[in-house]
Amino acid sequence: MKYTVLTLFPELVAPWAGTGILAKAAAAGQLEFDIRDLRDWATDRHRTADDAPYGGGAGMVIRVDLVARALAEVRTTSPDAHVVLLTPAGERLDQALVERLARESHLVLLSGRYEGFDARVEELVDREVSVGDYVLMGGEAAVVALIEATARLQDGVLHDSESALKESFAAGLLDYPEYTRPPEFEGRKVPEILLSGNHGEVARWRRRQALERTFRRRPDLLEKADLTADDEEFLESLHPDPTGDV
Ligand code: 6GU
Repeated sequence: MKYTVLTLFPELVAPWAGTGILAKAAAAGQLEFDIRDLRDWATDRHRTADDAPYGGGAGMVIRVDLVARALAEVRTTSPDAHVVLLTPAGERLDQALVERLARESHLVLLSGRYEGFDARVEELVDREVSVGDYVLMGGEAAVVALIEATARLQDGVLHDSESALKESFAAGLLDYPEYTRPPEFEGRKVPEILLSGNHGEVARWRRRQALERTFRRRPDLLEKADLTADDEEFLESLHPDPTGDV
């Protein structure tokens, strides 16, 4: 997967792509990052990217001509590029959309700041995406979230063990709780079953913990989760717990 990021703050995004798993995957050729400053497509001496809104009001608006030049350049060199505008007015990102975007070969992520883009930019992009129902000061954190979510689904980016986990039928449920040493901390013990060495029982306990946590915290996720008859039966046995203490 190639990622082109178009932003007024490349210095916010570059260190993220240059660290940890993303950097390693880029060095190995599994990912490619091209993080570009939108001002590179400005035509004036001051590299102006924005202007005052027509009709008045506070803030500044990013110019459509500048974005058009940037996208024309990207699309000329990469006809298969899929251009995503990050905006709180976009389609809300969820794992299903992440999986669709992860199948693209080249994502172009357009990140706004200030009051936003000239509305005519919407006609230049393939889709608009929001990362949730809250407002960020700029799209850079949203760009990073979209990169993180799609990069981990690319072949060779995660270790085999992690890849197996992400594809397992646990998909769609919240994770089961994990524990490590010490076996007792301030009176709180690690569940006995995890120390038993019985792998079959451990797997069953983890599945049920994942089901119960999802039932208590995010029952909406159960509608789309892949459940066995045994899972359904277990969920039937649960009763709403007003403490939500799972
Ligand atoms: Cl993509 N941008 C901004 N500025 N705020 C957001 C967002 C994007 N998604 C949710 N809130």
